[in-house]
Amino acid sequence: MADYDFDVLIIGSGPGGYVAAIRAAQLGLRTACIESRETLGGTCLNVGCIPSKAMLHASEYFDAAANGTMAKMGIKVTPELDLPQMHAQRLDAVKQLTGGIAFLFKKNKVEWIKGRGSFVDAHTVQVGERTVTAKDIVIATGSSVTPLPGVTIDQKVIVDSTGALELDRVPRHMVVIGGGVIGLELGSVWRRLGAKVTCVEFLDQILPGFDGEIRKESNKMFKKQGIEFVLSTKVTQVAVSGETATLTLEPAAGGEATTIEADCVLVSIGRRPNTDGLALDKAGLTANQRGQIEIDHRFQTTVPGVWAIGDVVPGPMLAHKAEDEGIAVAENIAGLTGIVNHDVIPSVVYTWPEIAGVGLTEEAAREKGEVKVGKFPMAGNSRAKTNHEPDGFVKIIADAKTDRVLGVWAIAVPAGTMIAEAALGMEFGATSEDIAYTCHAHPTHSEAIKEAAMAVRGKAIHV
Ligand code: FAD
Ligand code: NAI
Repeated sequence: MADYDFDVLIIGSGPGGYVAAIRAAQLGLRTACIESRETLGGTCLNVGCIPSKAMLHASEYFDAAANGTMAKMGIKVTPELDLPQMHAQRLDAVKQLTGGIAFLFKKNKVEWIKGRGSFVDAHTVQVGERTVTAKDIVIATGSSVTPLPGVTIDQKVIVDSTGALELDRVPRHMVVIGGGVIGLELGSVWRRLGAKVTCVEFLDQILPGFDGEIRKESNKMFKKQGIEFVLSTKVTQVAVSGETATLTLEPAAGGEATTIEADCVLVSIGRRPNTDGLALDKAGLTANQRGQIEIDHRFQTTVPGVWAIGDVVPGPMLAHKAEDEGIAVAENIAGLTGIVNHDVIPSVVYTWPEIAGVGLTEEAAREKGEVKVGKFPMAGNSRAKTNHEPDGFVKIIADAKTDRVLGVWAIAVPAGTMIAEAALGMEFGATSEDIAYTCHAHPTHSEAIKEAAMAVRGKAIHV
Protein backbone atom coordinates (compact mmCIF):
# COMPACT_ATOMS: atom_id res chain seq x y z
CA MET A 1 0.00 0.00 0.00
CA ALA A 2 1.26 3.45 -0.87
CA ASP A 3 2.64 5.50 1.99
CA TYR A 4 0.64 8.72 2.16
CA ASP A 5 1.34 11.86 4.20
CA PHE A 6 -2.23 11.78 5.53
CA ASP A 7 -5.21 9.46 5.61
CA VAL A 8 -7.54 12.34 4.74
CA LEU A 9 -6.81 15.68 3.09
CA ILE A 10 -9.59 18.24 2.92
CA ILE A 11 -9.50 21.22 0.56
CA GLY A 12 -11.44 24.12 2.11
CA SER A 13 -12.24 24.87 5.74
CA GLY A 14 -15.85 26.10 5.51
CA PRO A 15 -18.61 24.40 7.52
CA GLY A 16 -18.28 21.40 5.20
CA GLY A 17 -14.49 21.11 5.31
CA TYR A 18 -13.75 21.96 8.93
CA VAL A 19 -16.48 19.65 10.25
CA ALA A 20 -15.25 16.82 7.99
CA ALA A 21 -11.70 17.40 9.26
CA ILE A 22 -12.66 17.32 12.93
CA ARG A 23 -14.89 14.25 12.50
CA ALA A 24 -12.18 12.41 10.53
CA ALA A 25 -9.63 13.16 13.24
CA GLN A 26 -12.09 12.05 15.94
CA LEU A 27 -12.36 8.75 14.06
CA GLY A 28 -8.60 8.25 14.34
CA LEU A 29 -7.61 9.31 10.82
CA ARG A 30 -4.47 11.42 10.20
CA THR A 31 -6.08 14.56 8.84
CA ALA A 32 -5.04 17.85 7.21
CA CYS A 33 -7.09 20.73 5.84
CA ILE A 34 -5.93 23.18 3.18
CA GLU A 35 -7.30 26.72 3.45
CA SER A 36 -6.18 29.79 1.53
CA ARG A 37 -7.92 32.42 3.70
CA GLU A 38 -6.15 34.04 6.63
CA THR A 39 -8.68 32.45 9.00
CA LEU A 40 -10.57 29.15 9.07
CA GLY A 41 -14.35 28.78 8.75
CA GLY A 42 -14.94 29.53 5.05
CA THR A 43 -17.60 31.80 3.67
CA CYS A 44 -19.96 31.07 6.55
CA LEU A 45 -17.82 32.26 9.43
CA ASN A 46 -15.82 34.94 7.62
CA VAL A 47 -18.21 36.70 5.23
CA GLY A 48 -21.52 34.81 5.36
CA CYS A 49 -23.80 33.39 8.05
CA ILE A 50 -22.02 34.82 11.08
CA PRO A 51 -21.23 38.43 10.10
CA SER A 52 -24.64 38.80 8.42
CA LYS A 53 -26.37 37.63 11.60
CA ALA A 54 -24.25 40.04 13.65
CA MET A 55 -25.49 42.93 11.49
CA LEU A 56 -29.07 41.62 11.44
CA HIS A 57 -29.15 41.29 15.22
CA ALA A 58 -27.68 44.74 15.89
CA SER A 59 -29.89 46.46 13.31
CA GLU A 60 -32.96 44.75 14.82
CA TYR A 61 -32.26 46.56 18.10
CA PHE A 62 -31.74 49.86 16.28
CA ASP A 63 -34.99 49.42 14.37
CA ALA A 64 -36.95 48.46 17.48
CA ALA A 65 -35.80 51.71 19.09
CA ALA A 66 -36.37 53.80 15.95
CA ASN A 67 -39.73 52.43 14.83
CA GLY A 68 -41.58 52.79 18.14
CA THR A 69 -41.59 49.08 19.10
CA MET A 70 -39.61 49.80 22.27
CA ALA A 71 -41.70 52.88 23.10
CA LYS A 72 -44.77 50.67 22.90
CA MET A 73 -43.28 48.62 25.73
CA GLY A 74 -42.56 51.67 27.85
CA ILE A 75 -38.94 52.20 26.85
CA LYS A 76 -38.35 55.62 25.36
CA VAL A 77 -35.07 55.96 23.48
CA THR A 78 -33.92 57.95 20.49
CA PRO A 79 -31.29 55.75 18.87
CA GLU A 80 -28.08 57.15 17.49
CA LEU A 81 -26.18 54.97 15.06
CA ASP A 82 -22.54 54.19 15.86
CA LEU A 83 -21.74 52.28 12.67
CA PRO A 84 -18.03 51.71 13.47
CA GLN A 85 -19.06 50.04 16.75
CA MET A 86 -21.67 47.94 14.95
CA HIS A 87 -18.94 46.74 12.57
CA ALA A 88 -16.54 46.18 15.47
CA GLN A 89 -18.95 43.80 17.20
CA ARG A 90 -19.44 41.99 13.85
CA LEU A 91 -15.68 41.58 13.44
CA ASP A 92 -15.37 40.45 17.03
CA ALA A 93 -17.95 37.69 16.48
CA VAL A 94 -16.06 36.56 13.36
CA LYS A 95 -12.71 36.63 15.18
CA GLN A 96 -14.00 34.60 18.09
CA LEU A 97 -15.65 31.95 15.94
CA THR A 98 -12.86 31.58 13.36
CA GLY A 99 -10.36 31.41 16.24
CA GLY A 100 -12.56 28.73 17.77
CA ILE A 101 -12.06 26.53 14.70
CA ALA A 102 -8.27 26.99 14.89
CA PHE A 103 -8.50 25.88 18.55
CA LEU A 104 -10.60 22.83 17.61
CA PHE A 105 -8.10 21.90 14.87
CA LYS A 106 -5.25 21.97 17.41
CA LYS A 107 -7.29 20.05 19.96
CA ASN A 108 -8.15 17.33 17.44
CA LYS A 109 -4.67 17.32 15.84
CA VAL A 110 -5.89 18.45 12.42
CA GLU A 111 -3.05 20.12 10.51
CA TRP A 112 -3.97 23.39 8.77
CA ILE A 113 -1.98 23.68 5.54
CA LYS A 114 -2.12 27.34 4.52
CA GLY A 115 -2.43 28.14 0.82
CA ARG A 116 -4.37 27.23 -2.32
CA GLY A 117 -4.64 23.58 -3.20
CA SER A 118 -4.43 22.25 -6.73
CA PHE A 119 -4.61 18.58 -7.80
CA VAL A 120 -1.50 16.86 -9.12
CA ASP A 121 -3.30 13.50 -9.28
CA ALA A 122 -6.14 11.80 -7.40
CA HIS A 123 -3.99 11.33 -4.28
CA THR A 124 -1.73 14.39 -4.51
CA VAL A 125 -2.33 18.12 -4.03
CA GLN A 126 0.13 20.95 -4.56
CA VAL A 127 -0.01 23.80 -2.02
CA GLY A 128 2.58 26.44 -2.86
CA GLU A 129 5.95 24.69 -2.63
CA ARG A 130 4.52 21.72 -0.75
CA THR A 131 3.29 18.49 -2.33
CA VAL A 132 0.85 16.66 -0.06
CA THR A 133 -0.42 13.13 -0.53
CA ALA A 134 -3.43 11.44 1.05
CA LYS A 135 -5.35 8.20 0.71
CA ASP A 136 -8.63 10.13 0.55
CA ILE A 137 -9.18 13.72 -0.57
CA VAL A 138 -12.34 15.73 0.13
CA ILE A 139 -13.16 18.75 -2.04
CA ALA A 140 -14.98 21.31 0.14
CA THR A 141 -14.11 24.48 -1.74
CA GLY A 142 -17.53 26.13 -1.39
CA SER A 143 -18.92 28.85 -3.62
CA SER A 144 -18.55 32.51 -4.63
CA VAL A 145 -20.85 35.27 -5.80
CA THR A 146 -22.36 34.84 -9.27
CA PRO A 147 -21.42 37.95 -11.24
CA LEU A 148 -23.96 39.89 -13.29
CA PRO A 149 -22.61 40.16 -16.84
CA GLY A 150 -21.35 43.66 -17.59
CA VAL A 151 -21.56 44.80 -13.95
CA THR A 152 -18.27 45.27 -12.10
CA ILE A 153 -18.26 44.90 -8.33
CA ASP A 154 -16.13 47.77 -6.92
CA GLN A 155 -17.20 47.17 -3.26
CA LYS A 156 -18.00 50.89 -3.00
CA VAL A 157 -21.00 51.74 -5.17
CA ILE A 158 -21.59 48.24 -6.55
CA VAL A 159 -21.15 45.62 -3.85
CA ASP A 160 -21.60 41.91 -3.36
CA SER A 161 -22.62 40.41 0.00
CA THR A 162 -19.11 40.88 1.42
CA GLY A 163 -19.10 44.59 0.52
CA ALA A 164 -22.66 45.01 1.78
CA LEU A 165 -21.60 43.69 5.19
CA GLU A 166 -18.84 46.28 5.45
CA LEU A 167 -20.36 49.52 4.15
CA ASP A 168 -18.91 52.49 6.05
CA ARG A 169 -22.01 54.60 5.46
CA VAL A 170 -25.76 54.08 5.38
CA PRO A 171 -26.73 54.35 1.71
CA ARG A 172 -29.41 56.87 0.77
CA HIS A 173 -30.84 54.47 -1.79
CA MET A 174 -29.74 50.86 -2.03
CA VAL A 175 -30.92 48.85 -5.01
CA VAL A 176 -30.76 45.13 -4.41
CA ILE A 177 -30.56 42.99 -7.54
CA GLY A 178 -32.16 39.63 -6.69
CA GLY A 179 -34.93 39.00 -4.16
CA GLY A 180 -33.36 35.87 -2.68
CA VAL A 181 -32.01 35.22 0.80
CA ILE A 182 -28.99 37.54 0.64
CA GLY A 183 -30.95 40.43 -0.89
CA LEU A 184 -33.66 40.23 1.76
CA GLU A 185 -31.34 39.78 4.74
CA LEU A 186 -28.82 42.46 3.81
CA GLY A 187 -31.51 44.73 2.32
CA SER A 188 -33.26 44.49 5.72
CA VAL A 189 -30.08 45.47 7.58
CA TRP A 190 -29.61 48.71 5.64
CA ARG A 191 -33.34 49.52 5.50
CA ARG A 192 -33.45 49.31 9.30
CA LEU A 193 -30.44 51.60 9.57
CA GLY A 194 -32.15 54.24 7.43
CA ALA A 195 -31.58 53.46 3.74
CA LYS A 196 -34.33 53.47 1.16
CA VAL A 197 -34.23 49.95 -0.30
CA THR A 198 -35.56 48.83 -3.69
CA CYS A 199 -35.33 45.17 -4.65
CA VAL A 200 -35.39 44.22 -8.33
CA GLU A 201 -36.32 40.58 -8.90
CA PHE A 202 -36.36 38.73 -12.22
CA LEU A 203 -39.18 36.34 -11.23
CA ASP A 204 -42.76 37.34 -10.44
CA GLN A 205 -42.21 36.75 -6.72
CA ILE A 206 -39.35 36.90 -4.18
CA LEU A 207 -37.78 33.90 -2.42
CA PRO A 208 -37.74 31.19 -5.10
CA GLY A 209 -37.93 27.67 -3.68
CA PHE A 210 -40.10 28.69 -0.73
CA ASP A 211 -43.79 27.79 -0.36
CA GLY A 212 -46.02 30.02 -2.54
CA GLU A 213 -48.14 31.43 0.30
CA ILE A 214 -45.02 32.12 2.35
CA ARG A 215 -43.48 34.01 -0.59
CA LYS A 216 -46.60 36.15 -1.02
CA GLU A 217 -46.91 36.91 2.70
CA SER A 218 -43.19 37.70 2.99
CA ASN A 219 -43.49 40.18 0.14
CA LYS A 220 -46.37 41.95 1.94
CA MET A 221 -44.45 41.98 5.20
CA PHE A 222 -41.28 43.46 3.71
CA LYS A 223 -43.35 46.08 1.86
CA LYS A 224 -44.91 47.05 5.20
CA GLN A 225 -41.38 47.43 6.55
CA GLY A 226 -40.52 49.82 3.72
CA ILE A 227 -38.73 47.66 1.13
CA GLU A 228 -39.98 48.34 -2.38
CA PHE A 229 -40.16 45.51 -4.90
CA VAL A 230 -39.88 45.66 -8.66
CA LEU A 231 -40.82 42.13 -9.76
CA SER A 232 -40.64 40.39 -13.16
CA THR A 233 -37.84 42.76 -14.05
CA LYS A 234 -34.21 42.38 -15.01
CA VAL A 235 -31.31 44.79 -14.65
CA THR A 236 -29.60 45.05 -18.01
CA GLN A 237 -26.99 47.68 -17.25
CA VAL A 238 -25.46 49.58 -14.35
CA ALA A 239 -23.50 52.76 -15.16
CA VAL A 240 -21.51 54.38 -12.34
CA SER A 241 -20.60 58.03 -12.31
CA GLY A 242 -18.88 59.23 -9.14
CA GLU A 243 -21.01 57.95 -6.28
CA THR A 244 -24.16 57.42 -8.31
CA ALA A 245 -25.20 54.32 -10.17
CA THR A 246 -27.83 54.42 -12.88
CA LEU A 247 -29.54 51.08 -13.41
CA THR A 248 -31.38 50.19 -16.59
CA LEU A 249 -34.37 47.94 -15.93
CA GLU A 250 -36.34 45.92 -18.46
CA PRO A 251 -39.45 43.81 -17.97
CA ALA A 252 -38.35 40.15 -17.77
CA ALA A 253 -40.69 39.34 -20.67
CA GLY A 254 -39.21 42.17 -22.76
CA GLY A 255 -40.50 45.69 -23.26
CA GLU A 256 -39.62 49.30 -22.62
CA ALA A 257 -36.57 50.05 -20.46
CA THR A 258 -36.64 52.44 -17.49
CA THR A 259 -33.85 53.72 -15.24
CA ILE A 260 -33.42 54.24 -11.50
CA GLU A 261 -30.58 55.81 -9.54
CA ALA A 262 -28.89 54.53 -6.41
CA ASP A 263 -25.79 55.29 -4.35
CA CYS A 264 -25.36 51.59 -3.57
CA VAL A 265 -26.18 48.51 -5.64
CA LEU A 266 -26.08 45.03 -4.08
CA VAL A 267 -25.64 42.20 -6.57
CA SER A 268 -27.20 39.08 -5.01
CA ILE A 269 -28.32 36.86 -7.86
CA GLY A 270 -26.96 33.59 -6.50
CA ARG A 271 -23.66 31.82 -5.91
CA ARG A 272 -21.60 29.41 -8.01
CA PRO A 273 -19.31 26.54 -7.02
CA ASN A 274 -15.54 27.16 -6.58
CA THR A 275 -13.55 24.86 -8.84
CA ASP A 276 -11.27 27.36 -10.63
CA GLY A 277 -7.61 26.58 -10.14
CA LEU A 278 -8.29 23.16 -8.59
CA ALA A 279 -7.04 21.34 -11.73
CA LEU A 280 -9.88 18.84 -11.41
CA ASP A 281 -8.81 17.22 -14.69
CA LYS A 282 -5.54 16.07 -13.09
CA ALA A 283 -7.61 14.06 -10.59
CA GLY A 284 -9.71 12.67 -13.47
CA LEU A 285 -12.73 14.86 -12.69
CA THR A 286 -14.86 17.37 -14.59
CA ALA A 287 -17.47 19.74 -13.26
CA ASN A 288 -21.05 19.44 -14.56
CA GLN A 289 -22.77 22.16 -16.63
CA ARG A 290 -23.59 24.13 -13.47
CA GLY A 291 -19.97 23.97 -12.35
CA GLN A 292 -20.77 21.47 -9.58
CA ILE A 293 -18.91 18.26 -8.76
CA GLU A 294 -21.21 15.28 -9.09
CA ILE A 295 -21.19 12.73 -6.28
CA ASP A 296 -22.95 9.51 -5.30
CA HIS A 297 -25.04 9.06 -2.15
CA ARG A 298 -21.82 8.49 -0.16
CA PHE A 299 -20.34 11.83 -1.39
CA GLN A 300 -17.76 10.01 -3.50
CA THR A 301 -17.00 11.50 -6.92
CA THR A 302 -16.55 9.39 -10.05
CA VAL A 303 -12.91 8.89 -8.96
CA PRO A 304 -12.49 6.47 -6.04
CA GLY A 305 -10.84 8.16 -3.07
CA VAL A 306 -11.92 11.68 -4.13
CA TRP A 307 -14.98 12.98 -2.32
CA ALA A 308 -16.90 16.28 -2.41
CA ILE A 309 -19.34 18.09 -0.08
CA GLY A 310 -21.04 21.43 0.59
CA ASP A 311 -21.70 24.27 -1.85
CA VAL A 312 -19.46 22.72 -4.52
CA VAL A 313 -21.88 19.77 -4.98
CA PRO A 314 -25.54 19.84 -6.13
CA GLY A 315 -28.21 20.79 -3.58
CA PRO A 316 -29.04 23.83 -1.46
CA MET A 317 -26.10 26.07 -0.59
CA LEU A 318 -26.53 26.03 3.17
CA ALA A 319 -24.04 25.80 6.01
CA HIS A 320 -25.93 23.16 7.98
CA LYS A 321 -26.23 20.96 4.88
CA ALA A 322 -22.45 21.31 4.35
CA GLU A 323 -21.80 20.45 8.02
CA ASP A 324 -23.95 17.32 7.92
CA GLU A 325 -22.26 16.24 4.70
CA GLY A 326 -18.89 16.86 6.41
CA ILE A 327 -19.76 14.44 9.18
CA ALA A 328 -21.18 11.86 6.76
CA VAL A 329 -18.21 11.94 4.36
CA ALA A 330 -15.72 11.47 7.22
CA GLU A 331 -17.74 8.53 8.50
CA ASN A 332 -17.88 6.99 5.01
CA ILE A 333 -14.12 7.39 4.58
CA ALA A 334 -13.61 5.73 7.96
CA GLY A 335 -15.66 2.74 6.81
CA LEU A 336 -18.82 3.65 8.72
CA THR A 337 -22.17 4.57 7.15
CA GLY A 338 -22.61 8.32 6.90
CA ILE A 339 -26.01 9.47 5.68
CA VAL A 340 -27.68 12.84 5.06
CA ASN A 341 -31.42 12.95 4.42
CA HIS A 342 -31.58 15.64 1.76
CA ASP A 343 -35.39 15.65 1.90
CA VAL A 344 -35.30 17.19 5.37
CA ILE A 345 -32.95 20.19 5.21
CA PRO A 346 -34.46 23.31 6.80
CA SER A 347 -34.13 26.74 5.15
CA VAL A 348 -34.25 29.93 7.18
CA VAL A 349 -34.25 33.60 6.21
CA TYR A 350 -33.07 35.57 9.25
CA THR A 351 -35.22 38.64 8.78
CA TRP A 352 -37.76 40.07 11.25
CA PRO A 353 -39.81 37.95 11.59
CA GLU A 354 -37.83 34.95 10.40
CA ILE A 355 -39.04 32.86 7.48
CA ALA A 356 -38.42 29.12 7.62
CA GLY A 357 -39.40 25.89 5.97
CA VAL A 358 -38.55 22.21 5.74
CA GLY A 359 -39.73 19.52 3.34
CA LEU A 360 -42.12 20.03 0.45
CA THR A 361 -43.90 23.24 -0.49
CA GLU A 362 -47.68 22.93 -0.80
CA GLU A 363 -47.32 23.22 -4.59
CA ALA A 364 -44.77 20.38 -4.80
CA ALA A 365 -46.76 18.20 -2.38
CA ARG A 366 -49.97 18.63 -4.43
CA GLU A 367 -48.12 17.54 -7.55
CA LYS A 368 -47.28 14.26 -5.80
CA GLY A 369 -50.74 13.47 -4.45
CA GLU A 370 -53.62 14.48 -2.20
CA VAL A 371 -52.73 16.60 0.83
CA LYS A 372 -54.33 18.19 3.89
CA VAL A 373 -53.11 21.62 4.98
CA GLY A 374 -53.39 23.22 8.42
CA LYS A 375 -52.57 26.85 9.13
CA PHE A 376 -52.34 28.84 12.31
CA PRO A 377 -51.76 32.62 12.47
CA MET A 378 -49.13 34.02 14.86
CA ALA A 379 -51.76 36.64 15.80
CA GLY A 380 -53.54 33.77 17.62
CA ASN A 381 -50.41 32.76 19.55
CA SER A 382 -50.37 34.25 23.05
CA ARG A 383 -46.60 34.76 23.24
CA ALA A 384 -46.35 36.45 19.82
CA LYS A 385 -49.31 38.65 20.68
CA THR A 386 -47.85 39.63 24.06
CA ASN A 387 -44.51 40.45 22.42
CA HIS A 388 -46.26 42.65 19.79
CA GLU A 389 -45.21 40.21 17.03
CA PRO A 390 -48.48 39.36 15.29
CA ASP A 391 -47.10 38.88 11.75
CA GLY A 392 -46.87 35.46 10.17
CA PHE A 393 -48.31 31.98 10.39
CA VAL A 394 -47.37 28.33 10.57
CA LYS A 395 -48.48 25.96 7.85
CA ILE A 396 -48.30 22.17 7.91
CA ILE A 397 -48.78 20.04 4.82
CA ALA A 398 -49.64 16.38 5.46
CA ASP A 399 -50.38 13.42 3.24
CA ALA A 400 -54.19 13.12 2.99
CA LYS A 401 -54.14 9.34 3.38
CA THR A 402 -51.32 8.62 5.83
CA ASP A 403 -51.34 11.99 7.68
CA ARG A 404 -47.55 11.94 7.48
CA VAL A 405 -46.07 15.46 7.58
CA LEU A 406 -44.60 16.38 4.19
CA GLY A 407 -43.65 20.01 4.79
CA VAL A 408 -43.76 22.73 7.44
CA TRP A 409 -43.45 26.46 6.71
CA ALA A 410 -43.43 29.35 9.13
CA ILE A 411 -43.17 33.10 9.36
CA ALA A 412 -42.60 33.95 13.01
CA VAL A 413 -39.99 35.86 14.99
CA PRO A 414 -38.17 32.67 16.08
CA ALA A 415 -39.20 30.59 13.01
CA GLY A 416 -35.59 29.45 12.48
CA THR A 417 -35.55 27.87 15.93
CA MET A 418 -39.13 26.56 15.69
CA ILE A 419 -38.44 24.73 12.43
CA ALA A 420 -36.02 22.31 14.15
CA GLU A 421 -39.01 20.66 15.81
CA ALA A 422 -40.61 20.14 12.42
CA ALA A 423 -37.39 18.69 10.98
CA LEU A 424 -37.05 16.30 13.90
CA GLY A 425 -40.67 15.22 13.57
CA MET A 426 -40.25 14.60 9.84
CA GLU A 427 -37.05 12.58 10.41
CA PHE A 428 -39.08 10.34 12.71
CA GLY A 429 -41.93 10.08 10.19
CA ALA A 430 -44.35 12.10 12.36
CA THR A 431 -48.00 12.51 11.44
CA SER A 432 -49.84 15.77 12.07
CA GLU A 433 -51.65 13.89 14.83
CA ASP A 434 -48.32 13.10 16.54
CA ILE A 435 -47.48 16.82 16.63
CA ALA A 436 -51.00 17.85 17.64
CA TYR A 437 -50.91 15.51 20.65
CA THR A 438 -47.38 16.46 21.75
CA CYS A 439 -47.45 18.80 24.76
CA HIS A 440 -45.84 22.17 23.92
CA ALA A 441 -44.81 24.57 26.69
CA HIS A 442 -46.98 27.65 27.20
CA PRO A 443 -46.53 30.46 26.38
CA THR A 444 -44.17 29.77 23.47
CA HIS A 445 -44.21 30.58 19.77
CA SER A 446 -43.85 26.82 19.19
CA GLU A 447 -47.43 26.28 20.30
CA ALA A 448 -48.32 27.64 16.84
CA ILE A 449 -46.81 24.45 15.34
CA LYS A 450 -49.02 22.32 17.54
CA GLU A 451 -52.07 24.41 16.61
CA ALA A 452 -51.26 24.23 12.88
CA ALA A 453 -51.07 20.44 13.31
CA MET A 454 -54.48 20.54 15.01
CA ALA A 455 -55.74 22.65 12.09
CA VAL A 456 -54.71 19.92 9.64
CA ARG A 457 -57.47 17.97 11.37
CA GLY A 458 -59.75 21.04 11.53
CA LYS A 459 -59.39 21.53 15.29
CA ALA A 460 -57.13 24.52 16.26
CA ILE A 461 -58.22 26.13 19.54
CA HIS A 462 -57.14 29.78 19.40
CA VAL A 463 -58.65 30.97 16.11
P1 FAD B 1 -17.34 27.63 2.11
O1 FAD B 1 -17.89 28.07 3.41
O2 FAD B 1 -17.51 28.53 0.94
O3 FAD B 1 -15.80 27.35 2.36
C1 FAD B 1 -14.93 26.97 1.35
C2 FAD B 1 -13.54 27.40 1.74
O4 FAD B 1 -12.64 26.80 0.83
C3 FAD B 1 -13.29 28.89 1.64
O5 FAD B 1 -12.78 29.39 2.85
C4 FAD B 1 -12.26 29.05 0.52
O6 FAD B 1 -11.32 30.07 0.79
C5 FAD B 1 -11.59 27.70 0.54
N1 FAD B 1 -11.03 27.31 -0.75
C6 FAD B 1 -11.65 27.31 -1.96
N2 FAD B 1 -10.83 26.82 -2.90
C7 FAD B 1 -9.67 26.51 -2.28
C8 FAD B 1 -8.44 25.96 -2.72
N3 FAD B 1 -8.24 25.61 -3.99
N4 FAD B 1 -7.46 25.79 -1.80
C9 FAD B 1 -7.63 26.14 -0.49
N5 FAD B 1 -8.78 26.64 -0.03
C10 FAD B 1 -9.79 26.82 -0.91
N6 FAD B 1 -26.00 29.46 5.05
C11 FAD B 1 -26.77 29.10 6.10
O7 FAD B 1 -27.05 27.92 6.26
N7 FAD B 1 -27.23 30.04 6.98
C12 FAD B 1 -26.97 31.35 6.85
O8 FAD B 1 -27.40 32.16 7.67
C13 FAD B 1 -26.17 31.76 5.75
N8 FAD B 1 -25.90 33.06 5.56
C14 FAD B 1 -25.11 33.44 4.52
C15 FAD B 1 -24.86 34.79 4.33
C16 FAD B 1 -24.08 35.22 3.28
C17 FAD B 1 -23.81 36.69 3.09
C18 FAD B 1 -23.51 34.25 2.39
C19 FAD B 1 -22.63 34.69 1.26
C20 FAD B 1 -23.77 32.90 2.56
C21 FAD B 1 -24.57 32.49 3.62
N9 FAD B 1 -24.89 31.13 3.82
C22 FAD B 1 -25.69 30.77 4.86
C23 FAD B 1 -24.36 30.09 2.94
C24 FAD B 1 -23.16 29.40 3.61
O9 FAD B 1 -22.18 30.36 3.88
C25 FAD B 1 -22.59 28.32 2.70
O10 FAD B 1 -23.62 27.41 2.33
C26 FAD B 1 -21.48 27.55 3.40
O11 FAD B 1 -20.46 28.41 3.82
C27 FAD B 1 -20.93 26.47 2.49
O12 FAD B 1 -19.93 25.78 3.16
P2 FAD B 1 -18.75 25.05 2.37
O13 FAD B 1 -17.93 24.40 3.43
O14 FAD B 1 -19.29 24.24 1.28
O15 FAD B 1 -17.91 26.22 1.66
P1 NAI C 1 -30.69 33.21 -4.27
O1 NAI C 1 -30.57 32.12 -5.23
O2 NAI C 1 -31.29 32.96 -2.94
O3 NAI C 1 -31.52 34.43 -4.91
C1 NAI C 1 -31.14 35.05 -6.09
C2 NAI C 1 -32.34 35.78 -6.66
O4 NAI C 1 -31.89 36.59 -7.72
C3 NAI C 1 -33.41 34.86 -7.21
O5 NAI C 1 -34.65 35.24 -6.70
C4 NAI C 1 -33.31 35.06 -8.72
O6 NAI C 1 -34.55 34.91 -9.38
C5 NAI C 1 -32.83 36.49 -8.79
N1 NAI C 1 -32.12 36.86 -10.01
C6 NAI C 1 -31.24 36.11 -10.71
N2 NAI C 1 -30.76 36.82 -11.75
C7 NAI C 1 -31.34 38.04 -11.68
C8 NAI C 1 -31.24 39.24 -12.48
N3 NAI C 1 -30.42 39.30 -13.51
N4 NAI C 1 -31.99 40.30 -12.13
C9 NAI C 1 -32.83 40.24 -11.05
N5 NAI C 1 -32.95 39.14 -10.27
C10 NAI C 1 -32.21 38.07 -10.58
O7 NAI C 1 -29.20 33.79 -4.14
P2 NAI C 1 -28.54 34.76 -3.09
O8 NAI C 1 -29.56 35.56 -2.36
O9 NAI C 1 -27.46 35.45 -3.83
O10 NAI C 1 -27.89 33.75 -2.07
C11 NAI C 1 -26.92 32.80 -2.51
C12 NAI C 1 -26.92 31.56 -1.68
O11 NAI C 1 -26.47 31.83 -0.37
C13 NAI C 1 -28.29 30.95 -1.57
O12 NAI C 1 -28.25 29.72 -2.24
C14 NAI C 1 -28.56 30.75 -0.14
O13 NAI C 1 -28.89 29.43 0.13
C15 NAI C 1 -27.24 31.12 0.57
N6 NAI C 1 -27.58 31.97 1.69
C16 NAI C 1 -28.31 31.45 2.72
C17 NAI C 1 -28.72 32.24 3.76
C18 NAI C 1 -29.55 31.64 4.83
O14 NAI C 1 -29.62 30.42 4.90
N7 NAI C 1 -30.17 32.42 5.69
C19 NAI C 1 -28.37 33.65 3.84
C20 NAI C 1 -27.65 34.11 2.68
C21 NAI C 1 -27.26 33.28 1.68
